Amino acid sequence: MADAHRIEDPHLYHLFDGEPVLNVYKSDVTNLSAGTPGPDLLKQCIEMFKHATEHRMKKEEEHAYLFQYGITSGLWEFREELAKFLSAKYGDKVHRQNLILTCGATHGLQMILTTIVQPNGVIFVEEASYMIALDALKQFSGMKMVTVPIDSEGVDIAAMENIVREEKSKGSWNVTEEKPFWAVFYTIPIFHNPTGITLPKKRCEALVRAARSLDFLVVCDDVYVLLHYGNAVHPPKRLFAYDATLEGYAGGHVISNCSFSKIMAPGVRVGWLEAPARLINTFRASGYLRSGGGVNQYMAGLITSLLELGLEERLLDILVKTFKFLQANSRKAH
Ligand SMILES: Cc1ncc(COP(=O)(O)O)c(C=O)c1O
Repeated sequence: MADAHRIEDPHLYHLFDGEPVLNVYKSDVTNLSAGTPGPDLLKQCIEMFKHATEHRMKKEEEHAYLFQYGITSGLWEFREELAKFLSAKYGDKVHRQNLILTCGATHGLQMILTTIVQPNGVIFVEEASYMIALDALKQFSGMKMVTVPIDSEGVDIAAMENIVREEKSKGSWNVTEEKPFWAVFYTIPIFHNPTGITLPKKRCEALVRAARSLDFLVVCDDVYVLLHYGNAVHPPKRLFAYDATLEGYAGGHVISNCSFSKIMAPGVRVGWLEAPARLINTFRASGYLRSGGGVNQYMAGLITSLLELGLEERLLDILVKTFKFLQANSRKAH
């Protein structure tokens, strides 16, 4: 019988250490299972971060603001540089004011659920989804988790609408200005994990219409959007942009939850939410972000320099080319 008072604490170096399937540190295997850059790619970060640290520390000599509690939405110049970077990469305008700094997509999801969703609400998930997100969602034990069907093009919107309508009719929802949503739909519309599907335009429009009419929030896990290998210059349009443009309405039912984990390094634990105006002030005013002075102020400062110096752009280019090459060669090998 296991001893309940004994803590197993082996000397491991990273999340995949000792893990047979996901270990990206086996030099004889090209491992495409784990959503993380391998060691050779992560080594690119060493020189980049030395350079960025020197660049940023020079700026800190006068006030050392980077070592102070930050503003709740995240370092101003980080969000400014990020908005410029994303606008260029997406081919669609991203506004600094819509961005909130997070510690990655996992943290972003937790913050959304604790901040703007009813604690007894409903979480809709696709019947196949990112497995650890499901574990994280299960921890919200006051919320009911309901699966919705997917087919070869992604979530079946008509079927989903029926399920959502039925769930909505079962409860009495006490939504408020601070917690405006009785339900969320956690989805990965672009380069879905694990199926790889991207939701087609018609379904994106239908999903936004459904979210508006049944008043639920769509949380898009958009962590892979910028890793597109296609021939088009820009990746598929993120759902957030549909919410903002469809029928001239300013939007309010979609959040894009993103991360530097896949486009830089998971260890930096930096990500962002791109959220509609009506939700931004609630995040900014949250006690959690006010007490901590935002999150990850220091690392956001270094990433600002990486963006300013064009180093992140160069790294992303290397990552995309490498993954494209590895994928093409793994196909040939099978
Ligand atoms: C779909 C998806 N979302 C989120 C994450 C985790 O993101 P983060 O490191 O930003 O918390 C992963 C990691 O594998 C993922 O595959």
